[in-house]
Amino acid sequence: MSPSMTGAAEVPGCPVDESFDPLSAEFLADPYAVMARRPGGGAPVFFAPSIGYYVVASYEAVQQVFRDPAAYSAAVAQAPLVPIVPEAQRILLGGGYKPQPSMVSLDEPEHARLRKPAARAFSMKRVTAMIPAIEATTARLLDAVDGSEEFDLVAALAFPLPANIVFSLMGVPAGDFAQLKQWCGYRAALAWGRPAPEDQVEIATSMAAYRKYLRDLVDAKTSAPADDLTSDLIAIHREAPERLTLDEIASILFSLSFAGHETTTGLIGNTVRRLLEDPGRWTEIVARPDLIPGAVDETLRYDPSVPVWRRVTTRPVTLAGVDLPAGARLFLWLAAAGRDEEAFDRPAEFDMGRTDADHHLAFGKGLHYCLGANLGKLEAQIAVAELARRFPGLRLAPDQQLTFHPNISFRGPQVLLVRTSP
Ligand code: HEM
Repeated sequence: MSPSMTGAAEVPGCPVDESFDPLSAEFLADPYAVMARRPGGGAPVFFAPSIGYYVVASYEAVQQVFRDPAAYSAAVAQAPLVPIVPEAQRILLGGGYKPQPSMVSLDEPEHARLRKPAARAFSMKRVTAMIPAIEATTARLLDAVDGSEEFDLVAALAFPLPANIVFSLMGVPAGDFAQLKQWCGYRAALAWGRPAPEDQVEIATSMAAYRKYLRDLVDAKTSAPADDLTSDLIAIHREAPERLTLDEIASILFSLSFAGHETTTGLIGNTVRRLLEDPGRWTEIVARPDLIPGAVDETLRYDPSVPVWRRVTTRPVTLAGVDLPAGARLFLWLAAAGRDEEAFDRPAEFDMGRTDADHHLAFGKGLHYCLGANLGKLEAQIAVAELARRFPGLRLAPDQQLTFHPNISFRGPQVLLVRTSP
């Protein structure tokens, strides 16, 4: 796609990398090989005509963007990369439920209106209370594959664990999990990939059904509250109905369930992949489970499950020496920020003992900082701990070619075959 088609223009003094295409087969297979060649001659900001975005690749510049929400709006966070076909648009708007923008793409003051109650309900207390459920679900899922010589870690654990946890957090009846998982699959393609028109219609249909389900769930919990996050939000609504409407609660649930699912599936897949890539690492983890939290943070730095997030300038700005106009769309390359040698020593090395791994920007920073960061890390830590306890001899199955869903923002192996003994 040319810059003019996407409405972006090149600016003087900004390098252009014609070859940079984050949806190309080469990039999807190994973005780190592309990164190692430092697109744009190593420039911290360069223009990528393939998507019509300015790529921001240095830690410092990405951080500067996150820290200045007045100059860098979140409005494009979920903007489709390719135009949505009218039929899919009609479905998304249909059903009598006007979809509201999610909190992740709202600016102040609208953002705070949703973020404040969501943060109150999504308290540390509620996350900590999830620990027994995360442990029990992990154990149940691994019981199903215990005794196998080889299994797919993604299908067995990395996909179902976060889905089950986020749905039970919200108070969805267990009998509905399977339907919800089906609606939730592959939503990432709509805003972060280049789906064909017929795929857009299918995704839009599932998303509309899912939004309707969540609105009905809010009504059901209003008449029969329980011990769950949806009921906590309804209690906040009752304190001051005009400050948080029932429609807004449904919108918060939509954000949480989308944000809390594939992101964490990717984190678990990436962590296990990196720990097994070098069998010595796994041996260390088995011997010293106290290394697990550091290993999860190191994965978020070295191979984040959300490698890219987006912003758009609200006014002319200077970023890393490049003068950008208002309306410039930015591809914040969080994965490159984690590999920036100005920010981390020996950034291309995976080092579980690194003490500053948690300075990564994998959860964003500032006003939109990920609400589920603690929950996501906890799920990955518990998953790895239980795998290490059950399978001290776990190995990657040899000769597998990893594949990744074609989108710019969510990354983790689609299948990760593991062997339970060497
Ligand atoms: C574990 C892997 C996860 C990663 C890598 C991740 C990453 C991110 C990123 C990059 C953002 C955008 C930050 C920004 O714009 O500054 C974000 C926002 C958000 N995340 Fe996560 N996330 C993860 C897990 C979760 C989980 C488990 C949940 C909830 C159950 C969650 C809920 C949210 C929400 C609600 C926002 C929007 C916050 C706002 O706009 O104020 N995330 N996350």
